[in-house]
Amino acid sequence: MKKVRFDLGNDQHDDLKGVAPMHSVVDQTELSKHTSCDDCWIAIHGKIYDVTGYLSKHPGGAQVMLKLAGKDATAPFDDVGHSLESLMFDLGPEACVGILEPALKTNNYSTSPSSEKKDAASTKRSKELLVEWQKSKTGFSGLIQPSETVIPALRRDPSEKFDLKDPEERLEAQKIASTITAIAAIAFCITVLLYVKLRCANMIDHVVGSAQADDNYEIPNWYT
Ligand code: HEM
Repeated sequence: MKKVRFDLGNDQHDDLKGVAPMHSVVDQTELSKHTSCDDCWIAIHGKIYDVTGYLSKHPGGAQVMLKLAGKDATAPFDDVGHSLESLMFDLGPEACVGILEPALKTNNYSTSPSSEKKDAASTKRSKELLVEWQKSKTGFSGLIQPSETVIPALRRDPSEKFDLKDPEERLEAQKIASTITAIAAIAFCITVLLYVKLRCANMIDHVVGSAQADDNYEIPNWYT
């Protein structure tokens, strides 16, 4: 499996230029090696997905996916009426392990010019959605792909909660923290004032009491 720089290519993806990620180009031979329930790859719309971890979670069952393991499953995937979003949101971005080598993309499911057009449009939409989704999770507006360029947060188990909160959540947490700090400071000041007031009154009573016992002591005017 050779690593190449995957150029998103045409002007349709101008907005993504400069962040072109490293992709593994996977050929049919390599794809066809991953066919077991412990190591299951599937090609959909020109991309290769490692669905091993998703087999047991797939609502349509593991069996349908295992039958297509190591193959291009674009047509059956589309026929069932899956949305492209489910590739990102259900599998997660780390599931995409590469792109299917274009020369060998033709397979059992014939690729007509119209389906190629559909592929291009759907790939573009997938990328846009992926960028949006990753941006919402990480704040990074580029297209982060699995493989060498992936950031550690996206390598984690998808079931784990991301540490990176979105800015709104962080702002909310900061507001709560400042409110708690302010309340604590006010409570502390009130306690100190009460303590001083009570202590001073006792001290003054003490002084006055001693003064009354001592006839020579003059009680200050301000106290009476
Ligand atoms: C590899 C990526 C795949 C993902 C992320 C995925 C995801 C899903 C999801 C989320 C559902 C629930 C219903 C829906 O939203 O459509 C579903 C149902 C289903 N999927 Fe997949 N699927 C994948 C691949 C496949 C493949 C290759 C097949 C093979 C034909 C397949 C066959 C089915 C079937 C038969 C159902 C049940 C449909 C129903 O009863 O409504 N899936 N899948």
